[in-house]
Amino acid sequence: MILGFMERNLSSSLLGTLLLLSLAWFLHLVRKLLPPSNFPRNIPTVPIYVSFLGLFTNMDQKEIFENYLRDHLEMYGAVKIYFASRWNILVTKPELLVEIFRDEETFAKSGNQIKIPYSVLSEYTGDNLISAHGSTWKLYRQILTTVIQFPDLNPVVGNSRKFVRSIAHAAQSGSSMLVTDVIQKFALSNIGDSMLGIDFRLFENDHSVLNEKLKFVKSHIFKPMYLNFPFLDKFPIPSRIEARQAVRSFRKYYSGLIRSLPENVSNVAGSLTKALNDGVFTEQQFTDNAMIVMIAGHENPQLLLTSLIYVLSLYQDIQQKLRDELTSVDYDEQVLDQLPYLNSIIYETLRMFPPLGQIINRITTKPVKLGDFVIPKGVYVGYNNFATGRDRTVWEDADSFSPDRWGIEIAQVNRSYSKAKGSARLPAFHGRKRACLGEKFALHEMKQVLNQLLKSFRVIPDPEWENKLTPGGPVSPWKLKVKFEAL
Ligand code: HEM
Repeated sequence: MILGFMERNLSSSLLGTLLLLSLAWFLHLVRKLLPPSNFPRNIPTVPIYVSFLGLFTNMDQKEIFENYLRDHLEMYGAVKIYFASRWNILVTKPELLVEIFRDEETFAKSGNQIKIPYSVLSEYTGDNLISAHGSTWKLYRQILTTVIQFPDLNPVVGNSRKFVRSIAHAAQSGSSMLVTDVIQKFALSNIGDSMLGIDFRLFENDHSVLNEKLKFVKSHIFKPMYLNFPFLDKFPIPSRIEARQAVRSFRKYYSGLIRSLPENVSNVAGSLTKALNDGVFTEQQFTDNAMIVMIAGHENPQLLLTSLIYVLSLYQDIQQKLRDELTSVDYDEQVLDQLPYLNSIIYETLRMFPPLGQIINRITTKPVKLGDFVIPKGVYVGYNNFATGRDRTVWEDADSFSPDRWGIEIAQVNRSYSKAKGSARLPAFHGRKRACLGEKFALHEMKQVLNQLLKSFRVIPDPEWENKLTPGGPVSPWKLKVKFEAL
């Protein structure tokens, strides 16, 4: 009898404990639905379900932005938003961005290696020049600044020709073409030839190991589900185990390639290898930085070129006007920098389709006043290039693609561009100390390839292609297909 009494007592206290635990778990989940209570109250909250829309609906980034973010951002300049398994503050008003970019100590870089170290994404990119902070960042800059800013530009012309030649086949058949692969080949070849001093032979070999491995890795990395909820990478989900293995295999293969290159050459590969051999970089730092040069160096130009081809196909009059400008001058590489319309089109595309649409990789190191907001310590603060570039309170006629807004003469066009960057109305390449080191190279690539492309082909929209941007992550037309008509 006593035993029965004890058993009953035990099972009821076990039940009670279970109930309490479930309640605590439930409350924890409910708390997660809302931003932490110390977040500024005068910033509107984007409901958490908005973070799921790219996963479970057919909406693209633009539709989500229009319906759930735009009005708030234009009115307040910031929102509280759930992304990458946490609540963040996303800032878009230029005057606030200037403050953030200026104060690198308070808004300290804190990349995926710190924010979500367990994720497949973090294993892919590691601790690198873009995400590092303080003395580590300074060390990386010491080794890499010059070789990234002053690469060998010559191979880009040759790769532009190869790009155009590889389009010719689709153009002859009259069928539409998915542009992803050929643009990836172009952008990767440029990084290989110009910065690393290695010819990946991507145009010659359709099944290059590098290209195939990278395509596979990217198909896993940019899944909106895991970008939004990276904590899922903690669980033994078979497709994520496969993704992690693919990342490891890619890193091993790629870093082996870079290590096999000579050390005493003045380029990114040479500098990295020297830093490794001199004991300045660890193996991990060597691979992480080799990876980021390859990733940032090809991924962002790839996205921008996709968007450029998209806008040129959409606006035939702009395409023809650009072709007229390109054919009106005797071609030499420097001349392209002097063409106002060519440069304006690229700047306008950066405004409306910034490749890195949203970046949340800064954490406040102390409580800080940003405009009217008081942000506590330890909060992730990000910026949204897509929203700033389309802010109707910042840009007149923000929704229309109008290259002429940048000016008519080249000096005026470049002045408008510099001003827009300096005032953070165009943060597509960020600004100040942590501004992009590859900007000039990327712009050079765009000018060279557009010059070759438009002199050979007319780019026509494919009516069957569903006009959509990516559902989340980097900004670009989603799986863009166009037709190329030989001239
Ligand atoms: C259209 C092309 C490109 C765009 C739109 C772009 C955009 C950006 C942006 C927005 C940042 C700041 C990131 C942040 O806030 O964390 C950045 C940083 C950086 N980018 Fe680019 N990028 C492009 C091309 C390139 C290329 C070709 C390279 C060459 C390797 C490159 C190398 C870097 C590096 C090294 C940094 C970090 C600078 C630092 O923090 O010291 N980028 N880029």
